[in-house]
Amino acid sequence: MTQYGAEFLWVLILASLGLSALAIFISVSRHRRYHSRAASMPNSSDDVASEAARKVLREFEKNGQSVDAALVTWSPETLRKILAEDLPDAQVIVVSNREPYIHNEKNGEVELVVPASGLVSALEPITRVCAGTWIAYGGGSADRVVVDGDDRVQVPPGNPSYTLRRVWLTDEQYQGYYLGFANEGLWPLCHIAFTRPTFRDSDWEAYEAVNRKFADTVVAEARNERPIVLVQDYHFALLPRMIRERLPEAIIITFWHIPWPNSEVFSICPWRERILDGLLGSSIIGFHTQFHANNFTESVDRFMESRIERADAAVSYGGQTTLVHAYPISIEWPVELLKTLPSVAESQARVRERFGILADAKLCVGVERLDYTKGILDRFHALEELFIRHPETIGQVVFLQIAAPSRGTLPAYKHLHEECLRFAEELNERYGSETYRPVVLVAEHHSQKNVYEIYRAADICLVTSLHDGMNLVAKEFVASRDDEQGVLLLSTFAGAARELLEALIVNPYDAAMMSETMLQALTMGPDEQRERMRRMREIVRDNNVYRWAGSMLLDAARLRKRGELDRVTALSDRQVSLNGDNVVPMFERRQAAGYR
Ligand code: F6P
Repeated sequence: MTQYGAEFLWVLILASLGLSALAIFISVSRHRRYHSRAASMPNSSDDVASEAARKVLREFEKNGQSVDAALVTWSPETLRKILAEDLPDAQVIVVSNREPYIHNEKNGEVELVVPASGLVSALEPITRVCAGTWIAYGGGSADRVVVDGDDRVQVPPGNPSYTLRRVWLTDEQYQGYYLGFANEGLWPLCHIAFTRPTFRDSDWEAYEAVNRKFADTVVAEARNERPIVLVQDYHFALLPRMIRERLPEAIIITFWHIPWPNSEVFSICPWRERILDGLLGSSIIGFHTQFHANNFTESVDRFMESRIERADAAVSYGGQTTLVHAYPISIEWPVELLKTLPSVAESQARVRERFGILADAKLCVGVERLDYTKGILDRFHALEELFIRHPETIGQVVFLQIAAPSRGTLPAYKHLHEECLRFAEELNERYGSETYRPVVLVAEHHSQKNVYEIYRAADICLVTSLHDGMNLVAKEFVASRDDEQGVLLLSTFAGAARELLEALIVNPYDAAMMSETMLQALTMGPDEQRERMRRMREIVRDNNVYRWAGSMLLDAARLRKRGELDRVTALSDRQVSLNGDNVVPMFERRQAAGYR
């Protein structure tokens, strides 16, 4: 072998040794990485949820921002874990006007009714998981019969998992607080439906007195100084402040289920500062959309001596900070009730039989409380427009409107009811025949089970609110369609339109446009229906109600942790000041340290 040949051989040997060493190194480090990842991995599917929730919390704490909970599969188990691990020993108290179960007297018997309320369908599964206490107005005619000596009853009936604590109101209180200030004042004030709000001194007094009564009840039900109180809706704007004064350590999460108007509209309310002051007693205020959260912050900025921390989505007022966030509400997933329902084909047959609907007509449905914000008359207009523009559809389409009576003693609601009856009758006379009624209007309460059966029977579901915080009917319809068929027509003015982008989005004020969209829905093929429905079902599954509640609870956990940290630091500050140094308030100190 020549000298060059020997050198070449040595180079080859060294190179192959180097490559082998590199291969061994890569394989060992891969092995290590795998093992260290495996060691840190949760070892059961249950732990996956809590690990994911912790990951979200860490991210969220790092950013000081609200949670992007997209990584978590939200379930009752996730919620339980958050409560156990991040808010140990916290007692959850829900407060709402409407109770989840109403006991009525009917023919000498006690009848149980689950009210037609988006709030109830969202909060009920959450309260079951939290095993908490739900405080609500006892409005059923047999409500007093079934409670114990402390006005409590365990629910759900048959499988109790939480306590319903009923609060009794006099007729005057109910009239002034619920019908008056809440529903003739705040409701039209917050919805763009062109119904003028009415404000009366006597209603305001009743509203204040009832809020006080609920505050007393919360304090009475609290087992310690630090409950988590979930205050629901526009019936209780003063309640957060009243609770804060008596339970300063409580976490108070207030959720405003309806839109919040712009500050110009809000300024109409004669008690606007009191309302804002009351709400700012909350630790967190939630809205369905960022738009409504922004409107609220603008109102605070305009009417209150406060500091707005826009980057943190927080308001500092009276020495306290309140987070103002969007948390889009949703429904449980999977819907438990679906297990008890017949197949889609059977539901179709049963619903058509029950309401006398022709077997070969396309079935459009609307399901809601009889409320002027829901755009029921606008739907009828669109149907008429469809018949005028496309006469071939007469006889081919039936519109079934389920409208649960609501706030029926108020003039605006009475008037709407009469208008709906009149219009439906007119349409039936004009376009119907002996065997064909284009509009079937059923102004009665329906059980959730019946409502889900109707969703499953529908070819098209119309949600055409003139203005709506979220609208859970849209999400319920989607959840009910495990056959991936059916078309959703959805108002652009409902919060749900921000999420359910595969719905056919309509402007309910534009009858011509809505009628053309109805035609598009009526003629949509099964493949396109499936494509749209599948996507919407994924959205509702991922953004379910456990995510809604979980995001708020994680935010609450962060606040509590920060509060604890602040207390410890404040103590050491006091120590320092005893030694003669200046005490810099916590907020300024955090700012100086570069924290937001
Ligand atoms: O839509 C707002 C809302 O408060 C819902 O949360 C609830 O479903 C409904 O209105 C309440 O209606 P009622 O006045 O019948 O309780």
